[in-house]
Amino acid sequence: MKKMDVSRRQFIKSSSVLAAGAMVAPYVVTSHAAPVSDLKVRIGLVGCGGRGQGATWDAINAAKEHGIKDCKVVVVGDVFEEKAKGFAANENIKAAYEFGFDAYKKVIDNPEVNYVILATPPGFRAMHFAYVTEKGKNCFTEKPVCVDSATARIFLKAAEESVKKGMKVVAGTQRRHQQGYQETIAQIQMGAIGEVLDMRCYWNQGAIWNYPWDINKSDMENQLRNWYHYLWLCGDHIVEQHVHNVDVCNWVKGTHPVRAYGMGGCEALKGPNQIWDHFAVEYEYADGTRMYSQCRQIDNTDANVSEYVVGTNGSSNPSGNITFKNGKVWRANQGRNPYVQEHMDLMTAIAENKKVNEAKQVAESCITAIMGRESAYSGRKVTWEDIIEGSQELMPENLVDMNSPIKPWKKPETVSYELSE
Ligand SMILES: NC(=O)c1ccc[n+]([C@@H]2O[C@H](COP(=O)([O-])OP(=O)(O)OC[C@H]3O[C@@H](n4cnc5c(N)ncnc54)[C@H](O)[C@@H]3O)[C@@H](O)[C@H]2O)c1
Repeated sequence: MKKMDVSRRQFIKSSSVLAAGAMVAPYVVTSHAAPVSDLKVRIGLVGCGGRGQGATWDAINAAKEHGIKDCKVVVVGDVFEEKAKGFAANENIKAAYEFGFDAYKKVIDNPEVNYVILATPPGFRAMHFAYVTEKGKNCFTEKPVCVDSATARIFLKAAEESVKKGMKVVAGTQRRHQQGYQETIAQIQMGAIGEVLDMRCYWNQGAIWNYPWDINKSDMENQLRNWYHYLWLCGDHIVEQHVHNVDVCNWVKGTHPVRAYGMGGCEALKGPNQIWDHFAVEYEYADGTRMYSQCRQIDNTDANVSEYVVGTNGSSNPSGNITFKNGKVWRANQGRNPYVQEHMDLMTAIAENKKVNEAKQVAESCITAIMGRESAYSGRKVTWEDIIEGSQELMPENLVDMNSPIKPWKKPETVSYELSE
């Protein structure tokens, strides 16, 4: 295993910081190039479901926290008219609305919109983000940002372009904006627990929501309304949900794994679903460090949503504490609600023209999760290149209306990868 490059000076600094329990700098350092309170925030929302509405309120609250007076929702869009219309009519929103598969273009094209929120099911994200990038607007994008090789490539390309354009992009991996994580991971990266030996991460919970198939609706509509259970829309729960925990481990390491070796299955979930209900994956980083990952959605099982980092001098729950070998415990400060903080950070970056672009980093964590999924589905070791150069393309070709055909779905067992060694 490669030695971690931590100088003695850094380590001593880190240890004394820990001893004093002092704060590290927050994620976006403010320098007051332009007062954020002067910002005009003009929100355009794509995807008016639970998170889209939640993220919009979070952005409105973030503006209030910043003392921004000029913040409004200009237009909201959804594939279903009733969803867009319903949120647009909210008495505290009162926005225009668009609907249909091309609603995203109309929202993003709206000349007044300068703050795009993307919150549809994950399958559409790469296409939507590529369009935001084409238009060069600042963006809050929910995770996941890709579900297969094709969308991974589309998103990565757009991510690169968005950096070139100087776009400010924050992703819905909100732990990156949570003070407890920020302080703890800063300490780990400065060597507080010594060399990182391995990491564990979990998202184990009960069964997820699941709507019954309605024979009076088209296949497309049934799948859209129950999107979690279809691979092209969701990416499976290892991608949709567990990406949060995988992202924390990638953050600790400052990179992504190169290989996954996993297993899983579908024990309890019944219905016309395509997703599995449990995965266990061993990931390997280029320097040999391992990340052991579990995720499960099965009722009457023990819940656990967390991450752990084990080092040569101690261990850490990176959400906010470090336990040293001598048994002493250090705890980080816990700040504001990260769902609001992430919008405050994006607004600060826009106002002060700071380089904040999380597109690549969130894509890498999503690709990590896809790599684990494909390893479990196939029973093979799957590499980073297998995914980013792969041929998997789940999205239907012509998304026009609720009668548009869906691609035939291959059972995971039929997906095959070459043994990578
Ligand atoms: N960061 C977090 O903690 C967090 C929490 C919850 C959800 N999410 C993410 O937010 C996204 C949305 O999840 P949700 O819980 O709000 O789901 P949801 O089903 O409540 O909302 C999704 C909305 O998108 C709409 N939609 C579907 N396809 C569309 C399209 N092509 N164009 C426009 N609108 C479309 C749906 O009609 C629905 O209104 C997911 O990617 C999910 O992973 C993140």
